Amino acid sequence: MELYNLKHPSQVVSFTQAVKLGLGKDRGLFFPKQIPQLQDVDGLLVLPFVERSKKVIGAWLASELGQETVDRLVERAFNFELPLVKADDNLYSLELFHGPTLAFKDFGARFMAQCLNELAQSEKINILTATSGDTGAAVADAFFGLDNINVVVLYPKGKISVLQEKMFTTLGDNIHTVAVESDFDACQTLVKQSFEDLDIRDGLHLNSANSINISRLLAQICYYFEAVAQFKQQHKTDPVIAVPSGNFGNLTAGLFAKAMGLPVKRFVAATNSNDTVPRYLNSGEWQPAKTVATMSNAMDVAEPSNWPRVEAIAAVMGWSLDDIVGVGTSEAATSESVKALNKAGYLSEPHAAIAALALKQTLVGDEQGIFLATAHPAKFNEVVEGILQIELDLPEALSRVVPKSILSAEIKADFDQLKQHLFKVLTA
Ligand SMILES: Cc1ncc(COP(=O)(O)O)c(C=O)c1O
Repeated sequence: MELYNLKHPSQVVSFTQAVKLGLGKDRGLFFPKQIPQLQDVDGLLVLPFVERSKKVIGAWLASELGQETVDRLVERAFNFELPLVKADDNLYSLELFHGPTLAFKDFGARFMAQCLNELAQSEKINILTATSGDTGAAVADAFFGLDNINVVVLYPKGKISVLQEKMFTTLGDNIHTVAVESDFDACQTLVKQSFEDLDIRDGLHLNSANSINISRLLAQICYYFEAVAQFKQQHKTDPVIAVPSGNFGNLTAGLFAKAMGLPVKRFVAATNSNDTVPRYLNSGEWQPAKTVATMSNAMDVAEPSNWPRVEAIAAVMGWSLDDIVGVGTSEAATSESVKALNKAGYLSEPHAAIAALALKQTLVGDEQGIFLATAHPAKFNEVVEGILQIELDLPEALSRVVPKSILSAEIKADFDQLKQHLFKVLTA
């Protein structure tokens, strides 16, 4: 698989290089030179998830890594369920939260960890990533205890739930966590600056595990195929799919799936009030506002870093961006959506509820749709309990971290401070 840098098209790399580098020159995103087209999509849709995923990822990677390696990576990464559940009239929820850290990020993080473990061999690897909530837990869990791999996770101090924080800041060992006194966009900027800094680049050989890493996106493509496969067992039509969006890696993966031949009627890009993309889709003007804190905090992103890939897919496929529906949802409407789903018998949390509402508002006639349920409701227990006035049981993956101590360092949103810290923990 060959990829080029969207900012410097003459920089062309293999998948192995792209996974290790994360970003290209000048923070450019890597983008595939060719999007593979699948021949027999109907035949693929009747396969079980893991078998189909081997073929979907094999279409990208078999020529470089060999199909046997792809099969092994997929088997190790994807070892949990992803049911499609009816949530309300015309609305289905693809539950992506049955992995070890109860969020959709487990798919990408576990596949990336398997790729790096396979591709790095005895090389020492340092991963630096920023999280707006769930990436930290998924990446930490996927890489925890792996030889030769160190992970540093930055997150906005006080802007993620305590449970979310405890899921990745209490592990220790090769997982180093840093609470930054600012918001997620600032964390993301610090990560990007670190990748550009020559001392860090030469001295620490940093790697990124954010959704900018292409390996994570390939893994995420697979669950869109599963969504449609399960949907097609009951319906003859193609589904509309609503994607709760922050950094837009999730939607990028969906568009790659469609570009490979997956039948999806259209995508709905659902955001909270950090609605740069819905406003852009409606007005044509890219005007990021300052990030605001919401209860769907993992989507508190005003400048989504995957957006250039969305534009690139549309350009390559000759699609109009007008075919993507953008919907931004207020805090009040988010609460109402959690309540409405609960009334229909489906327990949800704010991120999924935003996608459900955006779907409901934009389905036409007798269309049916799928929204992605990206996190277990108990991960946002305080918010959900507040909205519904109920008490939630904590699943074991969460209750076990409650008594543990947070091991994070704290820094200001200051690059020099971060640089010092990185050299301290990664060269110790
Ligand atoms: C629970 C949850 N939902 C949705 C999203 C948004 O996904 P993306 O950043 O790929 O748009 C995130 C991102 O962290 C998340 O954690």
